[in-house]
Amino acid sequence: MIPNQATIIEVGPRDGLQNEANYVPTENKISFIKALKDSGVREMELTSFVSPKWVPQMKDAKEIVNSCLDESRNFVLAPNRKGIERVKETSVSAVALFAGVSNSFNKKNSNKETIQLLEELVALVDELKRDGFFVRACISTAFYCPYEGKMTLKDTLGVCRTFVEAGVDELSVADTIGMATPEESYNLFHTLKSEFPNTLLTAHFHDTRGMALANIYACLTAGISRFDTSAGGLGGCPFAKGATGNVATESVVYMLERMGVETGIDLEKLMKAIDEIEPHLSRSIHTPYRSLHQKEASAELN
Ligand code: HMG
Ligand code: MG
Repeated sequence: MIPNQATIIEVGPRDGLQNEANYVPTENKISFIKALKDSGVREMELTSFVSPKWVPQMKDAKEIVNSCLDESRNFVLAPNRKGIERVKETSVSAVALFAGVSNSFNKKNSNKETIQLLEELVALVDELKRDGFFVRACISTAFYCPYEGKMTLKDTLGVCRTFVEAGVDELSVADTIGMATPEESYNLFHTLKSEFPNTLLTAHFHDTRGMALANIYACLTAGISRFDTSAGGLGGCPFAKGATGNVATESVVYMLERMGVETGIDLEKLMKAIDEIEPHLSRSIHTPYRSLHQKEASAELN
């Protein structure tokens, strides 16, 4: 049965901006985050404490969190122990760790073999849980890898199980390069739900081939009610060849609300958040909802 409420985890300030060619000044990132919160977003990935040599856009992670923490759930990503040490210098209380199912992806994204990466992250989950953090594990290339092709269900479940047994609160399972079909999405999330009934399950779709909304619908029918989305459809992983934007928050909110699934997000205010960030980007934003909204607004003026 389709849930009557869904949680949007806004990843625009992190996944959205990490792939952006222009460096967005810290104050503009903060205005974007605040406008997103004002639209009703209650869970968000604010930034990541990754190596600034690898992702220069995220070099201001500490300044971002120092200005944006509030009572809602604010995630930051961390790739390793050094990242967690930096997180612990702040008041952040929700951390996202990440690993791919594919070994080739992990070498490109984290400079480690999967076995070595999981060993390091499992130890960190244990420490973070003992210190009272909320921990999410982001599982990349859960369906397809740009270097290795289709991933097996067994391998994807294996990586998920490693994190669940380590004690994470949430799995965010990703179609990194937007290749999954609705049938594959249903099958994976249906299986995850029965394998890990006590773990929060979130679907993270990139919209590379325009299939993300169909995949979200398929996940809803599997009983999933948490979705990572990005305002304006910004996003992509710089270390996954061919990865483009995340599914747009406005498209998902529009679809869900029309279906009677409450999100708590105000689309008018969400458009204002996109207005905040767009002038600082290397490209303009043309998601269907936004383009229509702009056309209607200019028709009203004329
Ligand atoms: P490395 O070069 O192997 O790191 O990179 P290292 O341990 O050898 O250290 C090299 C230097 O980096 C040292 O500094 C470290 O101190 C520093 P130096 O001595 O040369 O001056 N360093 C750090 N500095 C700040 N913060 C840190 C940190 N770690 C090391 N945390 C590393 C390994 C993991 C650091 C690198 O590969 C990295 O930063 N990777 C992150 C890549 C990334 O951000 N990818 C995108 C996020 S994942 C994603 O988008 C997918 C997702 O959306 C789901 C999906 O769609 O699939 C979640
Ligand atoms: Mg992503």
